[in-house]
Order: sequence, then C-alpha cells, then structure tokens
Amino acid sequence: MYKRFPEHFIWGGATSAYQIEGAWNTGGKGPSIWDVFCMIPGKVHNGDTGDVACDHYHRLAEDVALMQQIGLKAYRFSISWPRILPAGRGAVSPQGIAFYNELIDRLLGAGIEPWVTLYHWDLPAALEFELGGWLGDAISDTFADYASVCFHHFGDRVKNWITLNEPWVVAILGYGLGVFAPGRVSNVAPYQAGHNLLKAHAKAVRLYREKYQAPQQGQIGITNNCDWREPHTAAAQDRDAAQRALEYFLAWFADPIYMGDYPECMKTRLGARLPKINAADRELLLGTSDFFGLNHYTTMYAAAAAPGGAAEGSVYGNGGLSEDQDVALSISTDWALTDMNWAVVPWGCRKLLEWIAGRYGNPPLYITENGCAFNDKPENGRVHDPDRIAFFEGYLSEIHQAMQNGVNLRGYFIWSLLDNFEWASGYSKKFGITWIEPDTLRRIPKDSADWYRKVIINNGLII
Ligand code: GAL
Repeated sequence: MYKRFPEHFIWGGATSAYQIEGAWNTGGKGPSIWDVFCMIPGKVHNGDTGDVACDHYHRLAEDVALMQQIGLKAYRFSISWPRILPAGRGAVSPQGIAFYNELIDRLLGAGIEPWVTLYHWDLPAALEFELGGWLGDAISDTFADYASVCFHHFGDRVKNWITLNEPWVVAILGYGLGVFAPGRVSNVAPYQAGHNLLKAHAKAVRLYREKYQAPQQGQIGITNNCDWREPHTAAAQDRDAAQRALEYFLAWFADPIYMGDYPECMKTRLGARLPKINAADRELLLGTSDFFGLNHYTTMYAAAAAPGGAAEGSVYGNGGLSEDQDVALSISTDWALTDMNWAVVPWGCRKLLEWIAGRYGNPPLYITENGCAFNDKPENGRVHDPDRIAFFEGYLSEIHQAMQNGVNLRGYFIWSLLDNFEWASGYSKKFGITWIEPDTLRRIPKDSADWYRKVIINNGLII
C-alpha cells in the first residue's frame, strides 16, 4: 500500500547546537548556561558534557555530505546564541557569524533548505548572571536584539525561522523541577519564565515582520512540544483531566499566540502565580506564528487525581508541576518503550494533530521533531535498527491518516540526524544501561537512515 504525501511535503532531519557542535570555548564562543550546568557535579549523568559532542563545529562538511546521502530536503539546526554574542549582547563574534554562514552556504549548495531555531536552551551564561535569565524583565528585548543580528546576517538565505524550541521544557525543567539548566526549583518561576519566553518570541517575530519579512520573504514561527494525553477511562472526570493536561502542556504556550490569553483552567487554578496577559501583551502576542511547530514523542493516560495526589512518576512523566493540574499520568503495559522509557503510541500522534487542528483553526503545521532512542549496537560497522524503522513506520502512517482527515501538515523532521548529547542524560541512558558510547558517537550507518531515504525518494510509505 502506498501512503503518498503531498508534492511539496518537507522531509527533514533536526539537531541543536549544544547537543552536536562541541568547540564549547573556541571560535570566540562565550559560555552558555548548559556549559556551566554540566560543570556542576551531579547535574548530568556520568559527568558528561557537550564540550566535544559530535564535533560538528569541526566536521561541518562531512555532516552536510551525510545529509545529502540520506536525501534530506531540509535541515533544522539551532544557532548558539553565545557563539554569535559571546556575552549575550553587545559585541558580535565574526567567527560565530562565519561558522553559520559556512553551514548555510554548504546546505544550500547541497540543495538542502535550512530551518533555523534561534533558541534551543543554550542561553549565554552572562545573561543568567546579569539579567536573571528568563526570569528577568530585560530578557525579551535582549532576545529580540539577538534575533535581529541573525536575521540581518543570515536572513538573505534562511527562509524558515523558529524563535524558540520547547518553551515548556525551559520553564518546567529549567525553572520548576531544576533538572535542566539553569537548575532552579520553584512553583512560581516556571510561569514567570514562560511569560517572558512568550514575550521574547513575540518581540522577535514583530521585529522580523516589520523589518525583514518583506525583503527576505521568509516565514517565522515557534516550536512547542506536547505528548498526547488519552483519558484513562471514558468517565467525564478523566476526559477533563486529559484535556487539562493538554492545556497545561501545549495550550499554555499556544493559546496566547492563537487566542490572546492563557487557558482558563490555568488562570483559575494558578491564580496570582500565573502572570496576567494584559491588553498590550495580547496585542504583542496574538497571531505571531506563521506556522505551528510541534515536537512530539509519546503518549500517556491521564486520570483525575485528588488534589496533591498527582506527583508520581518520573519528572519527564509528570507533565510538569502536576500538583497544579491534579492529573495522574500512567502508561499501558502493552505499549512498547524506547530506551528513554517513552511509550511508542503512534495513534497518539494522530489524535494530537487533530486536537491542534481543531483548537487552533487548522494552521499550517510542521512536526519539527519526532524520533526514538534505542540501544543501538553496531555490527560490522552498521546499526541494524528494526525497532526504529517500526517506530517511524507507525508514526508516519498515523500522520498520513491525520492528513487524510484534514490536518494541514506540511513537513516532518526526524530527531535526530546524529546521535548526540541528551541533556541531563548525557551520552548514555540513566540508571546504567549505555545506549551509545561517546567515542562511537554518530556517523555509524543505520538501516533506518536508508529506510528514511526511501521514504523521501518515494515521497511516502510503501508498506
Ligand atoms: C526534545 C528536545 C531535543 C531532544 C529530544 C529527545 O525535547 O528538543 O533536544 O532532547 O527531546 O531526544
């Protein structure tokens, strides 16, 4: 059976700067909060760091050749803010500009469209010290200034911009649970950080639209992440719990942009802990995304929990500060797990796409990340990864079905192009099981890469 995708569907691969570049203190780069976070004992599994990572900074040409070999039509990467502005603001580093110029030019030379994320979590450390990071009042303007430097230098060739990657992760894991940089623990800070992240996004978009969009003819949007939340039972209270969980996860950041305010359930439950969107904020935020960027990985059941009874499971599983939601999350024992213990539930992806289309008026949508980690073992210089192929086959089939059902999906980026630094998990799975050794990192040919190449050539799945 041939599951064909529309003619101009974008088939891509994605990475982020800190996870692959290395060269953390060379080429004029300043330190980021992830460089600092990794130095703090106990923060990152095994004491791993992104100091070298995939050494992409030095192996650029080789990596673009790899993309060409897979047949990628688009490549989503992020710009390291402190590589461009070593102190976060002020002086621009010519070496930083030169590095991304070379990357962009090589991509275009190889017929690969660059998709650029401006912020994938590596805030210049100077701004954490001097401005209080995402909690500071000045951060949104400072971000817009940085964005402007990027539009100015790269916008003649970059036509697809993503302001922020996953503000939910920055707010909840960075400023709520403290497991990601900068490591703050609070039940107030995430909502303040979230508010500033939204304003930063909107100010960068406004600036792009006023100054650059007409001459440069590009599009700009934001990427949010969301898992699917399936009601645990058909009972009304579980259906409400699932809806509430989705609103705390995705609508927190998407409603202000598409509807001009935070979801009602967050406003009533959080009270004064959630900053207010006033008339000026509303005007700033509304309509500031040319497309809906979505990172999606997994699904969980959601059930209503008694107040205070929801805080079980892992930090990744809780969906944030779960006591604010009164939602208990669980998974089915029938579901296969990836090596990050994320359940493989392709139909959850379809349901989420349909939920987004329904709530936000079927906007143009791109899946900017989807993928899985498995315990890959190279055999004779190759990785045979049937589980990964099955994962992609399952997800792409359901994505195709969502499009048949009317969802306006325009593209799909696999995570990730290269095996890389997985944040607090470092290069190996927590709790002792290694999935990839740093010295065998990346570039080991995978069966799934050949499979993806066929999908791209056929512009669809032949099952
Ligand atoms: C996303 C993130 C990526 C990567 C991925 C899982 O949340 O944007 O950087 O960590 O999860 O591998």
